[in-house]
Amino acid sequence: MTHEYEKVLTPSSGLRLHLNENTAGCSPKVIEALQRLTRQDIAFYPDYDDVVAACATRLGVTPEQIVLTNGLDEGILALTVAALRDRDASVPEAVVVVPAFDMYASTAAGVGARVVEVPMGADFAFPATRILEAIGPRTRLLFLTSPNNPTGLVIPTRDIIQIAQQAPHVSVLVDEAYADFAEVTLVGDAAIRALPNVFVGRTFAKAYGLAGIRAGVVIGDPTALARLRRVVPPFSVNAGAVAALIAGLNDVDYYRWYLDQVRSSRSLLYTALAKAGVRYWPSEANFVLAHFGERARAVVDGLAARGVHVRDKSRDPACPGCIRITTGVVEHTEVCIRALEEVLCAEA
Ligand SMILES: Cc1ncc(COP(=O)(O)O)c(C=O)c1O
Repeated sequence: MTHEYEKVLTPSSGLRLHLNENTAGCSPKVIEALQRLTRQDIAFYPDYDDVVAACATRLGVTPEQIVLTNGLDEGILALTVAALRDRDASVPEAVVVVPAFDMYASTAAGVGARVVEVPMGADFAFPATRILEAIGPRTRLLFLTSPNNPTGLVIPTRDIIQIAQQAPHVSVLVDEAYADFAEVTLVGDAAIRALPNVFVGRTFAKAYGLAGIRAGVVIGDPTALARLRRVVPPFSVNAGAVAALIAGLNDVDYYRWYLDQVRSSRSLLYTALAKAGVRYWPSEANFVLAHFGERARAVVDGLAARGVHVRDKSRDPACPGCIRITTGVVEHTEVCIRALEEVLCAEA
């Protein structure tokens, strides 16, 4: 298996509900901050003290507990390199719980690890026991996602603690790309803080609408993070991203408004799916996974023909017949629901 990242097509127009982006756009304050950039700001190498302090304050940790990265993708790459670099002659292993975000397997395989896939249990139950069985002396890295992409389900914290305690030689990345939309986070959890092999990844792409800016953080034990700091290039986040991120973090009203929109959108979509007799999984993220069975491809195509782009997840492990729909601004979700009703009616 090659584990290559499959590039997702970029539609030239229409409503993008296929990549879990912020459908409102970033805060207007971000644009103002970018417009205030001077020629010197662009000419000089950026300084990260203020932006790291702003991230730390927002997340309730200290600056020493944070590594700033060029999107969470770079955090995934940095942790993978850091975890796999000191090796003996044997091939190191990375455990991925599937279905999962494609980047874990493609990055680990790209860095030379053997990828060990552990399937989720029935109805996407978290397979804690099977993960522990899959971890061996060669395992260096375990990728977990909470809330998970594409299911939107949260991993019980006690399971993460149990795994990390029983496998202290494994770096555990808990990818919390969607935790802004959830009720729980590991950031600030005292039991997690006591486990130096647990790293939490966050992105500002989703709730803050900064996907195009590229900014994320990895949070962890300051000593353990030293291995990542050696890997991340010293100026990997550009000056525009620094200004944008500080402005985005400061506009708390806009952030809260967007979280409210996502919560309302999820409820509207649940109601519409239930009315249409379509099974879905209640999500703690800014998307919902729904099971359309054999109609899945026709639904994706029918929605695209109406200018609404959603993600066919049929080829993901354990997801046949499933579609993932981003839930952003309520007005956009209403457009999606109307299009979906038309497609299902035409299909009937
Ligand atoms: C689970 C997960 N982790 C990480 C990322 C990437 O985040 P970033 O855009 O900050 O690189 C995504 C993006 O979709 C994601 O779904």
